[in-house]
Amino acid sequence: MDLKALFSTKLSEVLKGSLTTKEIYSLIETPKNDEHGDLAFPCFQLAKIQKISPIEIAKQLASQINDSVFSKIDAVGPYVNIFFSKKELGKAIINPILHQDQNYGSSEIGKEKTVVLDLSSPNIAKPFSMGHLRSTVIGNAIANLAKKCGYRAVKINHIGDWGTQFGKLIVAYHRWGNEEAVAANPIGELFHLYVRFHQEAEKNPYLEDEGRAAFKKLENGDSEYLKLWESFRNESLRAFKSIYDLLSIEFDSFQGEAFYNDKMDEIVQMLKEQNLLELSEGAEVVRLDEQQIPPCLIKKSDGATLYATRDLAAALFRQREYKFDEALYIVGQEQTIHFQQVKGVLKKLGYVWAEQMEHIPFGLILQHGKKMSTRKGRVILLEDVLNEAIKLAKKNIVEKNPGIHNPDEVANAVGVGAVIFHDLKNDRMNNIEFSLRDMLTFEGETGPYVQYTNARAHSILRKYKGTDICFEGLDDDESWDVLKLLNEFPRIIERSYKQYAPSILAKYLIHVSQAFNKYYGKIRILAEDEHLQSRASIVKAVTIVLTEGLQLLGMKAPKEM
Ligand code: ARG
Repeated sequence: MDLKALFSTKLSEVLKGSLTTKEIYSLIETPKNDEHGDLAFPCFQLAKIQKISPIEIAKQLASQINDSVFSKIDAVGPYVNIFFSKKELGKAIINPILHQDQNYGSSEIGKEKTVVLDLSSPNIAKPFSMGHLRSTVIGNAIANLAKKCGYRAVKINHIGDWGTQFGKLIVAYHRWGNEEAVAANPIGELFHLYVRFHQEAEKNPYLEDEGRAAFKKLENGDSEYLKLWESFRNESLRAFKSIYDLLSIEFDSFQGEAFYNDKMDEIVQMLKEQNLLELSEGAEVVRLDEQQIPPCLIKKSDGATLYATRDLAAALFRQREYKFDEALYIVGQEQTIHFQQVKGVLKKLGYVWAEQMEHIPFGLILQHGKKMSTRKGRVILLEDVLNEAIKLAKKNIVEKNPGIHNPDEVANAVGVGAVIFHDLKNDRMNNIEFSLRDMLTFEGETGPYVQYTNARAHSILRKYKGTDICFEGLDDDESWDVLKLLNEFPRIIERSYKQYAPSILAKYLIHVSQAFNKYYGKIRILAEDEHLQSRASIVKAVTIVLTEGLQLLGMKAPKEM
């Protein structure tokens, strides 16, 4: 139930048209301090219209509004502050939650609409870096939110499996590599070769030319090169799969860059026909001066295609295949210009749907304040990080709850959840300092804190002897604070999706946890009195919202910790 909407309806009944209900709605504020009321209506706007002092208007309004949904209406200076009747509204808030269970918060705003998400998209023959983790967890959470809002969400892993780097890798493999070493430790060895190539190329620049030539040969379908490339790809995908399994993330498509190999001609042809291709230093480019963006490189002077060429073909393919209403690219902010160029070129080709493509950028993960770079070998391997997190989580859990009967499963949920939550609670664009210790504490604003709060609520429910859960109404402030927050869940989900900001949901889950822990600290929930059932139903509703919220973020919600 939208409490603001309720208040604005009641206000508009007495205002009789001076402001629309929508205008009233947007003016309503939530007082910083709960003691001042649940909601407040500032009268300045009305004062301007009616040319009366806002203080006078507040007084008049406060005396005119009279409805059983309010327990108290105060005129405080130019504000009308209202308190809802806790008993009456408590029921209206909690019953739908208990009734809808995990469906609570679902909506139909995306009904019959499709959103495709380009997420994760690591590069083969390279370790899955912490940088790709951000795309994976942010993208996955946005996809979950989209589904919760009724969209069809298609998750595409645009694997980086094509490009000059594979020419370089083949050169490096021929010079310094061998089959046994790659078979023994595929990603490690391929990455080692890649790093070595760059080191050697600094001394011998002609290696770069060799790399480019090798890629050209690959693009032209050389069968030996293709076979090598394919084995690199298979080994890499296998390694990525174990990370996705740890994260419990699935994709609808793994069509990566190579998939578009035979689909780029069409785009190049169209660009030619519409006279959009220009020669620049031997390369073919599309100028985007009028959009104030640098030209988009379509073909190198040797005829090899580029990252952007493949993204153009991919966009066209996805529009035909999925008929998307939104196409989101969850990719680091360093690729902002790239996506502007891709969109810019498609717009020049006259594709109106290009407007529905959106780059969702994010900041860096830092280690000791520095960016992690794959090329120099300064990189944290995600799989190691996750396994370390799980190990630490297990230590914490066993200390806290020695009798726990599925410690490994819970440690998995908590360790992986801690890493996911640490990422998602931050605004996307922020750089994040990576600290396993910080993300794994049970106190403070962490994933384990939210998970632990949920597990605590479950443990109360296990102790609750009653069979029925039914809310009769409560009027203490602590339970009301919890209820008011639970009531916001549907709007939090909608906002998180619309702003592509899982952090809104993550922060909200912290607030719910804090409010519930305050409640738990103050009130004896399981006391045998006439309100026992009502309190139990609040606990139950908390588990519903926390569980669903955690799952939307891509985390597990263990019942015991
Ligand atoms: N593989 C690229 C990288 O690691 C990211 C690909 C993002 N998606 C895309 N359609 N360009 O930088």
